[in-house]
Amino acid sequence: MSALIIDGKKLAEDLRAEIRKRVCLCVEKGITPGLAVILVGEDPASVSYVSGKEKACAEAGMASFERKLPADATETELVALIEGFNADPAVHGILVQLPLPAHIDEGKVIGAIHPEKDVDGFTPVNIGRMIIGERCFLPCTPHGVIKLIERAGVKTKGAHAVIVGRSNIVGKPLMNLLVRKELNATVTVCHTGTVDLAGHTRRADILIACAGRPGLLTADMVKPGACVIDVGVNRVEDPKAARGYRLVGDVDFRGVSAVAGSITPVPGGVGPMTITMLLYNTLESAEYAAASPAAVKR
Ligand code: GUN
Repeated sequence: MSALIIDGKKLAEDLRAEIRKRVCLCVEKGITPGLAVILVGEDPASVSYVSGKEKACAEAGMASFERKLPADATETELVALIEGFNADPAVHGILVQLPLPAHIDEGKVIGAIHPEKDVDGFTPVNIGRMIIGERCFLPCTPHGVIKLIERAGVKTKGAHAVIVGRSNIVGKPLMNLLVRKELNATVTVCHTGTVDLAGHTRRADILIACAGRPGLLTADMVKPGACVIDVGVNRVEDPKAARGYRLVGDVDFRGVSAVAGSITPVPGGVGPMTITMLLYNTLESAEYAAASPAAVKR
C-alpha cells in the first residue's frame, strides 16, 4: 500500500488565496490587517520562522511590524514592547516567537498580550475559551492539523486519535480540539512517561506525532490505513545538503507511507498550514476591528 500524501503546501496556497481576497475587502474599509512579531535573540530556527511569517504577511497584503531584541533583553523591556503593541490600533495580532531565553518568564510575557490580539492563541484567556468551546483564536499548528485531517477526507467522529507529545503549543490543544462534539474523536495522549508507546500508536486511526524526536514513529508502530500527521520539524546534519542539514519529521516517512492510508510530508505538510492559520487569525482580528471599532479600544 502507498499512502495518499496530504499536500499541506497546496492547501495552504488555497487558503491564502481566500485570505488575500478578504484582506483586500478590509483594506477597502480603511483597515490593513497588521501583525507584530517579536523575536528575542538569534536562534537560527526562530530567525527563519520569523522571516517566513513576515514574507507571508507581505504576500497576503498585510502589514508586519518586526521587533528584534538582543538575547540579554529584560522581561520588563519585552512586556513594555507588548504593551505598546496592545495599544496600537494598527496592530491586530501580536506574536512573541518561542522559545524565549531562559532568564525570561514565558508565562508572564505571553500573559501580557491582550487576548483580543493573541493570534497565537497562547494566553490563558484564549486557552480557557478554547477548552470550554467559546469563540477564540485557536492555536495555529493544531488548527492547521485539523484542516489537514479534513482535507484528507478522514472521518474524526468515532475515530481513535493518538497524539504523541503533550506540549502546550501542539499536543494539549489538539487533544482539546479533537474531543469537541463536532469532531467527536476519542483521544489518547502519549508522552515520555507512556509505557508501551507502540501498543497505543498501533490502535490509532489518526496518529499525530508532535514529540520533536526525529524518526520516533516507524512502520511497525502504525495501523494499516491510518492517517498520520507529522508535526515534527527537526534539523539533522547532512554534509550533502547545501545548508549542512536537512529537515525531517518525527515519522520515518518512507517506511510509514507504505503502511498508512494518508500521511503529511516534512517539509510541505503541517509547516505551511501553521503560518496560514496565523494569517487567518490576524485577518479575523482585523475584520472584527473593522466591524466594531469601539469594541477594540484597549
Ligand atoms: N515557536 C514554535 N512554534 C511557535 C508558534 O506557533 N508560535 C510562536 N509564537 N512561537 C513558536
